[in-house]
Amino acid sequence: MKKPSFAVVGCGRLGTALGKHLLNAGYPLAGLTSKSLSSAKHTAEIIGTNKYSEVPRDITRSADVVFITTPDGIIGDACKTLAENDGFKNGAVVLHCSGAHPSTILSSAEKSGAFIGSMHPLQSFASKDIEGNPFQGITVSVEGTDNAVTIAEKMAVDLGATCLTIPTEAKTLYHAAAVTACNYLVTLFDLAFKLIEKAGISSDQAFKVLKPLIDGTISNIEKVGIPEALTGPIARGDTETVQRHMTAIISQTPGLLPLYKTLGFYTVDIAAAKGTLTEFAVQELRKILKITV
Ligand SMILES: NC(=O)c1ccc[n+]([C@@H]2O[C@H](COP(=O)([O-])OP(=O)(O)OC[C@H]3O[C@@H](n4cnc5c(N)ncnc54)[C@H](OP(=O)(O)O)[C@@H]3O)[C@@H](O)[C@H]2O)c1
Repeated sequence: MKKPSFAVVGCGRLGTALGKHLLNAGYPLAGLTSKSLSSAKHTAEIIGTNKYSEVPRDITRSADVVFITTPDGIIGDACKTLAENDGFKNGAVVLHCSGAHPSTILSSAEKSGAFIGSMHPLQSFASKDIEGNPFQGITVSVEGTDNAVTIAEKMAVDLGATCLTIPTEAKTLYHAAAVTACNYLVTLFDLAFKLIEKAGISSDQAFKVLKPLIDGTISNIEKVGIPEALTGPIARGDTETVQRHMTAIISQTPGLLPLYKTLGFYTVDIAAAKGTLTEFAVQELRKILKITV
């Protein structure tokens, strides 16, 4: 089956990666456009094409699939401007790549006869020019109208990703999960690094020292899942050790106590689900870890 042509509106980090790797996967490029011509030109140089323009309509009008890869807050308006200027051919598929927003923010394109969807890669694209294929082996979540989903799924698979279809109304919680697993993991490590630094281990060493523990925990979650992977004082019902942690944190770095307590409080639920705690230990741990305002 002939592969559909595609256009990229918004030549930033993701737009550039999509352009490069869809082209590599054999999808014909209709063209690139961005807010500034210099960005479109830079992306064109990276992916080896001369198909770019500062007039978005000139690029998008001929495309079977249009990716709007502007920052999230601009997607709806960029789409509306294109729709109002006859920027989509009838039956085109218009996709955005935001994890936070549903495909319905592209409703202006749907009104002008296009099929709308979103295609969100669960990957971090830190720069425009990434070595290798950042889509290889990752999950791309897709939602939207049937025609858009079918094409987005095919493109995701051709990029080397695994496709996950989610209901449009589930998009916000799905994104909250991704933010927790990615961004808040950074916050969690930051807490651990700050505590270990207070114990006299330098910030240079902190990651090296903790990494085998982190790797082992991720491996355990993969092998036995949650709650079985939970170990440590809360899983053992060792209230005294948890209390000693809190006393040390209060004396040396009190600002970190609320986060430590909040994480501990929810960890008690996991330990209770594992079945290793007496009801008395559950109540005692909840009592000392509860945040009181
Ligand atoms: N980066 C990631 O890790 C990642 C991961 C998953 C999903 N996403 C999603 O991908 C989308 C793009 O994110 P990004 O990180 O690639 O952003 P980015 O690097 O900031 O790039 C956004 C691009 O959009 C262009 N732009 C801004 N306003 C525009 C307009 N009105 N018309 C046309 N182009 C416009 C900017 O143009 P100029 O350069 O021309 O000024 C910029 O090059 C977002 O929806 C984001 O949620 C990103």
